[in-house]
Amino acid sequence: MFNKRTKIKELLSQEPKNQLVTVMGWVRTFRNNQFVALNDGSTNTNLQVVLELGKFNDNLLKRITTSASLKITGTVVPSLGKGQKIDLKAAVIEILGDSDGEKYPLQPKKHSLEFLREIAHLRFRTNTFGSVFRVRHSLAFAVHKFFNDKGFVYMHTPIITASDAEGAGEMFKVTTLPLDGTAPKNSDGTINFKEDFFGRATNLTVSGQLEGELGATALGDIYTFGPTFRAENSNTARHLAEFWMIEPEMAFYDLEDNMNLAEEFIKYIIKYAMDNAGEDLEFLKQRLADEEKSLPQDKRSEMGLIEKLEFVCNNNFERITYTEAIDILKESNHNKKKKFQFPITGWGMDLQSEHERYLVEKHFKKPVILSDYPKEIKAFYMRQNEDGKTVAAMDILAPGIGEIVGGSQREERLENLVRRMKEMNVPAEELWWYLDTRRFGTIPHAGFGLGFERMVQFVTGMSNIRDVISFPRTPGSAEF
Ligand code: 4AD
Ligand code: MG
Repeated sequence: MFNKRTKIKELLSQEPKNQLVTVMGWVRTFRNNQFVALNDGSTNTNLQVVLELGKFNDNLLKRITTSASLKITGTVVPSLGKGQKIDLKAAVIEILGDSDGEKYPLQPKKHSLEFLREIAHLRFRTNTFGSVFRVRHSLAFAVHKFFNDKGFVYMHTPIITASDAEGAGEMFKVTTLPLDGTAPKNSDGTINFKEDFFGRATNLTVSGQLEGELGATALGDIYTFGPTFRAENSNTARHLAEFWMIEPEMAFYDLEDNMNLAEEFIKYIIKYAMDNAGEDLEFLKQRLADEEKSLPQDKRSEMGLIEKLEFVCNNNFERITYTEAIDILKESNHNKKKKFQFPITGWGMDLQSEHERYLVEKHFKKPVILSDYPKEIKAFYMRQNEDGKTVAAMDILAPGIGEIVGGSQREERLENLVRRMKEMNVPAEELWWYLDTRRFGTIPHAGFGLGFERMVQFVTGMSNIRDVISFPRTPGSAEF
């Protein structure tokens, strides 16, 4: 057996009692032929390994370069240096992998996040990304724990589908037909997808919701947590072409139940990360504060990262309707002074992220749940309100991010649903299976989708969504 190692995070919590341990990791720095700062990814804190002068031969010492991988056995002793409680006094050093320190792209200096995106295969080895990905893990784990503890069933919905759940037409096609013009055609010149792999046109899923509803209308409460794909050409700091979404779907829930669950869920996973990844959040808090030092005063956050997270956990989200939001925006000085790029034209308009951010960051200064949007700007499956104009939709808006959750109570009345699908040109024949849930024991039900990367952005304070997913897919970019 090779791996009998102690992780550095664990080791750093032990008392130094001359105990013999083996560690493995990568060299961050090597000073004076004596001090190796070793990192193994379990924490940002490096282990200081002390090499007694004269004990190791020169040939070995030369091979201890930045990012070389080492296996070291030694004894744990109290540290004489400042900044750490323990040192590892090396007895045996084995080089697992050499590294040409000169060519290694990550030098011990500050690199920009843009540069690190170009070497995303190595950026995990920096403190920033070490922290981001450990926090991301913590949040993912919390998602499962939250729903599992409430008796939800984790449902795996398909990645390849023939439907467009959001009706927005932003799908990536999936096909095995040749792309060189020789694909079989129908008499009218269109591609004959009957000849394709699945015998029909298919695409990558934009949302697992429709299948999730099938699960919820039998199992009660389900959630999905998987990748979703959108071919929207949005080159912003909050859009990815491939992102992870959590979509709970609950039988016997109305819109208010839905909001309550979403708010509780968000608070729970933030709290979980604070309790379980506190050291990494401390690091990220400092990183953000340093980054913001270069910004003008009015562009800096009012609260530090941890203070912000605590604030969100300890305060109720503001709940207002779309109609109230439009009134607030219309009457705002910001609008009157024409400071919005998209002026508030009135009821019915879709809100832009600048409007959402004004509401959360300037007006309410806390997360906001907006509900009851005009039906024209929302998807076909949302429950129609009595007023004939709005639907039982809700979006949650977060400071610094904008929309983080989109959800609704679903239209459970067959006639209403079919009528709306016709109005919106959603092919009812293709969604016969979806409509069956309304035919056989229909029920009030609701659900929402949380964009996982936007959540990770919110918790880590990273301003670009490309820096919270390991290998971002965005327009014009699919490296790695
Ligand atoms: O608002 P959306 O489009 O809602 C749905 O997909 C519903 N089917 C959810 C449901 O009710 N089950 O997307 C939900 C969330 C958004 O609020 C946002 O956080 C995130 O998914 N999202 C994106 N995140 C990153 N990149 C993109 N291109 C995103 N599009 C949506
Ligand atoms: Mg949305």
